[in-house]
Amino acid sequence: MNMSNATLLNRQWFYVKRPQDRVSAEHYDLRESALDTTLSTNEVIVRARYISVDPYMRIQQHERNTYDVPHPLGIVQRSGVVGQVVASASERFRADDWVLSASGWQLFDKCHANDLQLINPQTAPVSTALGVLGMPGRTAWFGLMDAGRPRPGDTLVVSGAAGAVGSLVAQFGKRAGCRVIGIAGGAAKCSYLINTLKLDGAVDYRAFTSTEALAEELQRQSGGVDIYFDNVGGMVTDAVIPLIKRRARIVICGTISQYDGGLDRPDLGPRFLQHMLFQRATIQGILARDFAHRMDEMRATVEPWVKNRDIVFEETFVDGFEQLPQALNMLFDGKNLGKLLVRV
Ligand SMILES: NC(=O)c1ccc[n+]([C@@H]2O[C@H](COP(=O)([O-])OP(=O)(O)OC[C@H]3O[C@@H](n4cnc5c(N)ncnc54)[C@H](OP(=O)(O)O)[C@@H]3O)[C@@H](O)[C@H]2O)c1
Repeated sequence: MNMSNATLLNRQWFYVKRPQDRVSAEHYDLRESALDTTLSTNEVIVRARYISVDPYMRIQQHERNTYDVPHPLGIVQRSGVVGQVVASASERFRADDWVLSASGWQLFDKCHANDLQLINPQTAPVSTALGVLGMPGRTAWFGLMDAGRPRPGDTLVVSGAAGAVGSLVAQFGKRAGCRVIGIAGGAAKCSYLINTLKLDGAVDYRAFTSTEALAEELQRQSGGVDIYFDNVGGMVTDAVIPLIKRRARIVICGTISQYDGGLDRPDLGPRFLQHMLFQRATIQGILARDFAHRMDEMRATVEPWVKNRDIVFEETFVDGFEQLPQALNMLFDGKNLGKLLVRV
């Protein structure tokens, strides 16, 4: 289908100023413009339906290089998107097809067909392409299986356990035969970890004002840690490290407590390298993109669990394109359960 000579009214969130702390209205600019719908060969126009907000966006807003160069100013905020084809000059895509794209925070995007992945809506809710069957699922799966190397009987402690990655790590860990203790903020999330995710223990880190008191409760519930899957860093991690056991594996997936300014002004914790030596522990950073080529391997195992609802893949939806910057902040306020998405 071609829509030659027509235009679509596009809405785009431009990233215009680097935040020092929280993201607010001054860091983004909502603009409208006409999108020319004339298509060259293999071009496709996608209408966003679900737009992702992810903690990594705050990492990329820092001025210095991290695992990537900083997100440039003055362009549309990058993100994953699940959308529907509205016009296509590619034989591979037809109108109404569901696709995964890297279109960013905009309503419409004119893409090359090679930059789109077809989503089968029969397999699972299409939004899961941004969650359990997408980047967060891949991170959880390979982070735990490759770096965490779980064995039956291991005690796995997961921070950020009620979030997109953490809730999956916790459940993958249970399926691998681990005893799983989740750490999350607030009583409601802890009750979710026990009653819905069926974890063996849950610790509300917000209920503790000192690392020592938090460590004491973690030790009481865990009895020592074989695998620590870290999503948050900071005080929570300071409390877990002294609890690691012989040949423990520490997986550094994220340090969200440090993203609001902390990458520039590191919040230094205790020096624990002696303890790592005594316990012959390993510490490994992991990055989702390093496992992108192994996506099919992850899907072969996890997709049937999703299809049969054998695992919980919670999603929190925020409605409205104009809510995107605020939705990003919600991750830092812990307002999400599972994967946070903006429905547009
Ligand atoms: N390495 C990779 O390739 C990769 C890929 C994806 C994600 N990640 C990382 O994994 C982590 C989780 O990402 P996600 O997408 O699954 O997000 P998420 O866990 O769904 O959402 C973020 C959660 O972080 C918690 N949080 C926020 N501020 C905190 C603080 N100061 N201290 C402790 N917890 C805090 C909140 O939960 P509470 O209510 O429990 O505080 C919030 O719900 C992030 O650090 C992210 O950068 C890494």
